[in-house]
Amino acid sequence: MSSKSLISFGIVLFCIVLAGCERQVSYSANVKPILDNYCVSCHTSAGEGELASGLALDDYDSLMRGTKFGQVVVPGSALSSSLYLVITEKADSKIHMPPHHDEALAEGRGFALSRTNIETIGTWIDQGAKNN
Ligand code: HEC
Repeated sequence: MSSKSLISFGIVLFCIVLAGCERQVSYSANVKPILDNYCVSCHTSAGEGELASGLALDDYDSLMRGTKFGQVVVPGSALSSSLYLVITEKADSKIHMPPHHDEALAEGRGFALSRTNIETIGTWIDQGAKNN
């Protein structure tokens, strides 16, 4: 084998190993702390977000129950999950979460989640949204 093809073989192997080692995201250790910090203040019993949508995010069962219209997490597909769409700005601009549409920004209480937190939630949903 030429050294050139050896190098490309090495690169391919490295990528396969990397993909296989994608870390398993945990609900309790990784996802819940994000929801607790950035969402639960409104999405809890009688909170602003819960009153408006019926969605409570304090625990796994409430999260999976979703809003009064149904589930916001589709296990295995972040891109089909409205919870993921509202944090990645793929939903209607009026329902970015935590609220950071123009109105919320004007009120000085708008901000988006960090990329890392968004990726953590997305990967957890893609991995099956388990109560792990
Ligand atoms: C400042 C209060 C507030 C915070 C913080 C907040 N929300 Fe909301 N959330 C709302 C309100 C109000 C609604 C109802 C919006 C509407 O339907 O127009 C809502 C609706 C939603 C919905 C339902 C959207 C739909 O399909 O109609 C989801 C999903 C959601 N929030 C997720 C989150 C997540 C995840 C976080 C944290 C990253 C979060 N929210 C933080 C107030 C909040």
